[in-house]
Amino acid sequence: MTVTTNHFNHLLDLVETERDAEREENQRKLERLPVQEREAMGKTVTRLVVTAEDVGVGGHALWVLSRPSHGEEISPFQAFNQGDVVMLSYLNGSETCKLRGTLYDVDQFEITVALDSPPPEGRPQGKCQLDELGSEATYKRMKKALEAVQKGDKKPLAHLRDLFMGEGRPGIIDLPVLEFFNPRLNQYQKEAVQRALAAREVALVHGPPGTGKTTVLIEIIRQSVEEGYRVLASAPSNIAVDNMLEKLLDAGLRVVRTGHPARILDSLRHSTLSAQLLEHEGQAQIRELDQRRELLVRQRARRKDHNRRRSWEETRQMDAEIEALWKQARDMEYGLSRRILAEADVVLATHGGISKQLLSKPFDLLIMDEASQATEPLSWVPITQAKKVVFAGDPLQLPPTIYSEKARKEGLGLTLFERLQKILPREFQTLLRVQYRMHETIMGFSSREFYKGALVADESVRRHTAAGLPNVKKTVLTQKPLVYVDTAGTGFEERWNDLLESRENEGEAKLAAQLARELHASGIPVRHLAILTPYVAQARLLRTIFNDRHFEVDSIDGFQGREKEVAIISLVRSNEKGEIGFLDDTRRMNVAMTRARRLLIVIGDSATISRHPFYDDFLTYVDEHKAHHSAWEWIKT
Ligand SMILES: Nc1ncnc2c1ncn2[C@@H]1O[C@H](COP(=O)(O)OP(=O)(O)O)[C@@H](O)[C@H]1O
Ligand SMILES: [Mg+2]
Repeated sequence: MTVTTNHFNHLLDLVETERDAEREENQRKLERLPVQEREAMGKTVTRLVVTAEDVGVGGHALWVLSRPSHGEEISPFQAFNQGDVVMLSYLNGSETCKLRGTLYDVDQFEITVALDSPPPEGRPQGKCQLDELGSEATYKRMKKALEAVQKGDKKPLAHLRDLFMGEGRPGIIDLPVLEFFNPRLNQYQKEAVQRALAAREVALVHGPPGTGKTTVLIEIIRQSVEEGYRVLASAPSNIAVDNMLEKLLDAGLRVVRTGHPARILDSLRHSTLSAQLLEHEGQAQIRELDQRRELLVRQRARRKDHNRRRSWEETRQMDAEIEALWKQARDMEYGLSRRILAEADVVLATHGGISKQLLSKPFDLLIMDEASQATEPLSWVPITQAKKVVFAGDPLQLPPTIYSEKARKEGLGLTLFERLQKILPREFQTLLRVQYRMHETIMGFSSREFYKGALVADESVRRHTAAGLPNVKKTVLTQKPLVYVDTAGTGFEERWNDLLESRENEGEAKLAAQLARELHASGIPVRHLAILTPYVAQARLLRTIFNDRHFEVDSIDGFQGREKEVAIISLVRSNEKGEIGFLDDTRRMNVAMTRARRLLIVIGDSATISRHPFYDDFLTYVDEHKAHHSAWEWIKT
């Protein structure tokens, strides 16, 4: 067997291991916890009633569910997100009915589910239960992609595979002098655009936090479309895809966003394939077919109540006709979809959401944003559709989430982006250096620790502080970029939360809340503040302390790619042994410490964390910048 065959066989095994691990984990969570506990965690909502029905874009049946209020103030849907895959179950007579669907809309006391299949007759009369599920579709697509790559008889794919396995040398095209669409690009960004356009098959853009990776990708896309290229733009998460979509719409390109409308930001839904289908002139015919079907469905239900019972044969015929009408309408929709996609300059999709059947021929260029957040098998899903690939990412920020420790160790933890960094010659790679987010003191530690000091703060942000925001008072906190609040000696201890299998620290949570309120009182709007913590139990505790949805509390993993004017980080760990658990993945801290634009406050116990060299360095950095404070300064004695 060749090295290549081995490699892809191994990846196929890892995908299998990972899928089993995810299933087990979901199952374990579902079984381990009684319904009440799952409800408390927000994974399940019971006692729901269907209050309305509708048909959404793409012909999906929509059910609106709500729970009669018992005077609760907190929404039962807090942990649910638009686009989650869910199971809806209810009693129909003595049978339990289970329907799968996708969350279309989540309000405080009302939730809309887009059902995956045509709904059964008659909406549920009793109470329904909603459970969060995982999705299998992505695993199937990864396996198919890996098998296609491994066989690799088609030319562009086989060629890319060989290059990505380190066989042969990538090519370079002669470029004319470029005129940039975006006049603000800095020298490193221009170089990245030039190298990407000059590359025949592949280029990498390595961009530390806030350095304009996506900005560079947008320029590459605009230049390529200008040359007549068809472009596929992809990222592992919906939010990252929407981020590109927003910027491409501003640039006035013809774009189509594929994917379930429920998973796409409201403001961008008009760009979805579903929305463009609805506006298409061919839609009238489809609507007519759907209306005929709906009429038949109603007839079928009504005639049952007549004296004369419909014969089995008649019912069967009706069912066949209903099904035929459904299929005919969907076939037409499918044909239209392919046309719309073929006519677009840029198609956007998540890696996992690329459905091959809709795409007729390979794209001239594939753009992969957040490339270091995708495992290698997932990255291959879009690559199977492309002749050339440009990656943007930062392997020094959080890696993809992986359930199986075994799979991670055996290679799933190494992204394609990282592999290519080692394989590709220098002229196919660029490191962006100028960042447009952080005060230079906030940036400095990350730059020193992760990027060999290469980062530069742009003049526009280099010295900005919270006090520079409109109507913000000058206080000890608002005039500084960096504050470390040391809880050593306060007796704030970490605690294990068995239910959430995570850690929390109540003293620290209260202090974080106090600091946030103090900042708010000095004039910083709540929307500019975020409290971040590595531990989900601490995030949950913080949310209960605030009991105010406007204060944003998030896990670090949930905040990658975002920024706030002010961020407070609660590190949680405080124990005699100096154990820091998964704080030792310093990439997580790199993300956490680079989210704030003007003020970063870190709360932690120096006695515990300083035993790890990374945090010891951080404490030294804090001292160098006279940013060390004791928690006692805020504790009322
Ligand atoms: N050359 C530039 N001049 C001014 N602002 C820029 C430049 N490049 C990027 N930015 C700004 O910096 C921020 C981060 O850019 P973005 O492309 O989203 O970075 P990344 O994808 O690396 O997180 C955005 O607000 C963007 O408008
Ligand atoms: Mg980006």
